[in-house]
Amino acid sequence: MRLELCLSLSVLLSLLLQFGLGHGIKWLALARTPQSLALNQTQHCKQLEGLVPSQMQLCRSNLELMHTIVHAAKEVAKACKKTFADMRWNCSSIDMAPNFHQDLERGTRESAFVHALSAAAISHTIARACSTGDLRSCSCGPTPGEVPGPGYRWGGCPENLHYGLLMGSKFSDSPMKVKKSPSQTNKLMHLHNTEVGRQVLKESVEMKCKCHGVSGSCSVKTCWRGLKEIADIALELKAKYLLATRVVHRPMGGTRKQLVPKDIDIRPVRENELIYLQTSPDYCTKNEKLGSFGTQDRHCNKTSNGSDGCGLMCCGRGYNPYMDTVIERCHCKYHWCCYVTCKKCKRTVERYICK
Ligand SMILES: *[C@@H]1O[C@H](CO)[C@@H](O)[C@H](O)[C@H]1NC(C)=O
Ligand SMILES: *[C@@H]1O[C@H](CO)[C@@H](O)[C@H](O)[C@H]1NC(C)=O
Ligand SMILES: *[C@@H]1O[C@H](CO)[C@@H](O)[C@H](O)[C@H]1NC(C)=O
Ligand SMILES: *[C@@H]1O[C@H](CO)[C@@H](O)[C@H](O)[C@H]1NC(C)=O
Repeated sequence: MRLELCLSLSVLLSLLLQFGLGHGIKWLALARTPQSLALNQTQHCKQLEGLVPSQMQLCRSNLELMHTIVHAAKEVAKACKKTFADMRWNCSSIDMAPNFHQDLERGTRESAFVHALSAAAISHTIARACSTGDLRSCSCGPTPGEVPGPGYRWGGCPENLHYGLLMGSKFSDSPMKVKKSPSQTNKLMHLHNTEVGRQVLKESVEMKCKCHGVSGSCSVKTCWRGLKEIADIALELKAKYLLATRVVHRPMGGTRKQLVPKDIDIRPVRENELIYLQTSPDYCTKNEKLGSFGTQDRHCNKTSNGSDGCGLMCCGRGYNPYMDTVIERCHCKYHWCCYVTCKKCKRTVERYICK
């Protein structure tokens, strides 16, 4: 009897532990939502994968947003894979959502990056959907006050960053706002990282202009304050990923202040740095339990000294060359007026894959 109780308790505990972790990005499973799901009735929310109860509630009360959030989940996977294509960990495991491996389930650097990117991307897509007229609940963001100079005027419909941040953070942070969660430390870490993601988004506002005037003289410029693309935001977050700080939990007053850098002399965590709790494997060899797929058969670049170079990518195991044919446009001729014709040429190139 006592043994049974012990066993069921330990099962319960491990279940709880699994629940607490990696929970914050399970909504990325929305990327696989079938096109056939119309998402125009609240009962459709139940058919969505990866939502925690509070997100299910948000789905019912903000049904209109869900197409945009599904789109955001797709954008996260796309941007993450593109940004990490030259790295040993290449983000392919993001497609496992909502059943992540340990690379994204634990408080790793990789999980920190994906949390930050997800938070930025969801607010980005909502802010943009407001300005393209896809949502009834919001419209264009405010036009800035003063014009930058003579010959300039404000125009267009800027993204509604305010609304994007408001609704995006409600949705992406709600798994971490659950009161009874076993892993307080992970929650604090994820909340910090999603805030870093949104901060990068806020700082990505830039002035964009279009020229007008007689035959492109650009005497009049129509400008608006627009957001950078998600791919650019992902690149900035990758730089933060490479410099991320490992933290430990020091219970004391305050909330996020409880996490402090592990190896550095006492300084608080900076608002603009990504933080993680657990070190990652080197992702060189296959170990599914650790969420490492290994780099065997990955492409590498023989002449690069970077992370995509054969040395680093193949972890010193060496690489095999193979010949590949590429078809290119060639012998292009310009014809008066105005078109170009080209031939197709085959060329063989040597490529390399890791042993
Ligand atoms: C929901 O969308 C489907 C397919 O677009 C449509 O047939 C249906 O009438 C819509 N239902 C409501 C309640 O708008
Ligand atoms: C990413 O890595 C996995 C595991 O090594 C590999 O199977 C996959 O082909 C890689 N994806 C790309 C786009 O290189
Ligand atoms: C390999 O790396 C070199 C140096 O960084 C770069 O110039 C080249 O374009 C890369 N080749 C491929 C196929 O990506
Ligand atoms: C790579 O490193 C070698 C030796 O350290 C150096 O000579 C070469 O210029 C570097 N190549 C690139 C593309 O940085």
